[in-house]
Amino acid sequence: MTAPAPSPRPRRRARNFGPGPAYLPTDVVERLAADLVDYGGSGLGVAEVAHRGPLFAPVVEALEERLRRLLALPPRYAILWMHGGASPHFGLVPLNLARRHRRADYVVTGHWSERAREEAARLIGEARVVARVSNPPVTIPPVSAWALDPGADYVYYTDNESVDGVEFPEAPRVERPLVADLTANFLSRPVEIARHMLLFAGAQKNLGITGLGVVVVDRDALPEDVPGVPRADVYAAHLAEGSMLNTPNTVAWYVAALMLEWIEKEGGLEALAARNRRKADRLYAVLDGSGGFYRNDVAASCRSRMNVPFTLAEPALLPDFFREAADAGLHQLDGHRSRGGVRASLYNAQPEEAVGELCAFLEEFRRRHG
Ligand SMILES: Cc1ncc(COP(=O)(O)O)c(C=O)c1O
Repeated sequence: MTAPAPSPRPRRRARNFGPGPAYLPTDVVERLAADLVDYGGSGLGVAEVAHRGPLFAPVVEALEERLRRLLALPPRYAILWMHGGASPHFGLVPLNLARRHRRADYVVTGHWSERAREEAARLIGEARVVARVSNPPVTIPPVSAWALDPGADYVYYTDNESVDGVEFPEAPRVERPLVADLTANFLSRPVEIARHMLLFAGAQKNLGITGLGVVVVDRDALPEDVPGVPRADVYAAHLAEGSMLNTPNTVAWYVAALMLEWIEKEGGLEALAARNRRKADRLYAVLDGSGGFYRNDVAASCRSRMNVPFTLAEPALLPDFFREAADAGLHQLDGHRSRGGVRASLYNAQPEEAVGELCAFLEEFRRRHG
């Protein structure tokens, strides 16, 4: 395969509704492009400087400081930056945290929580489903209905299911050690950190590019060592080495630092939460007002603000839908390969104008084909 030819200037930024790797703010991409060549006037590219050297030190500091500030992180929580995105934590969580009883409770709200549960079951034997979403309208059962096991080492949930479009309205209140996958809505609203023993997120939605995972963990919850497990899979080893157990993915760290700076410039998590709410409400209103032409089956109480999957009453129209959307400059709208249909992702960086253009297109398409 040959690489695509460089695009002629001026570059065009299409509307990108992809679920991840996701759209990045143009300011961030332009700064990255410049710094890949000459980082801060050093004459060295940011991908080519020592991760422990003085040029990279401000990136390491900014990651820690800005994320602590944005999350209002209590001092007992540590931040780990790790290779591999989100999925490794499906295994690392049970390996590190289900040491005592080797049992864990899982709330299954869609694709990713089921994947995490299966991986835990492989490793520790017992990973029970304590609650599962109902059939359409898809609803998350209230905590009072969860069949929690008092002997389980933790309760696990996925805050936002990017495939299914199901999101918890807030972190559940359970009097048990709580673990969360925040990959698909991290930093999209304030989060009650103190309810959690550990949370993790892959970076590729709201925090930059693929392959980087961030873990926020109560230090007291981590066992010092996990015998029989490679050191690269021991959270405490990453904590002890300041997330530099080996050479980090410096470019992904750098982009994450730029994204944290961008989030602060945009007004922080409260401001982004309000904007994200507006974007999602606008899109759901068009779907719900389409007289059944478009359909989303998730109950309003747990509809995702980040990923909006929907179907067309007439699936044979889908090829026309995607072609006409692309002609209108709206890209990467296809649903997850396991579900089909349409999915629009509205992460932090998705501009409100892009959502407006999508809504106008949906109404126009329905008028022509309905
Ligand atoms: C909620 C959630 N968890 C986990 C993952 C897996 O992420 P990764 O590909 O970084 O392993 C995704 C990816 O979309 C996701 O949305």
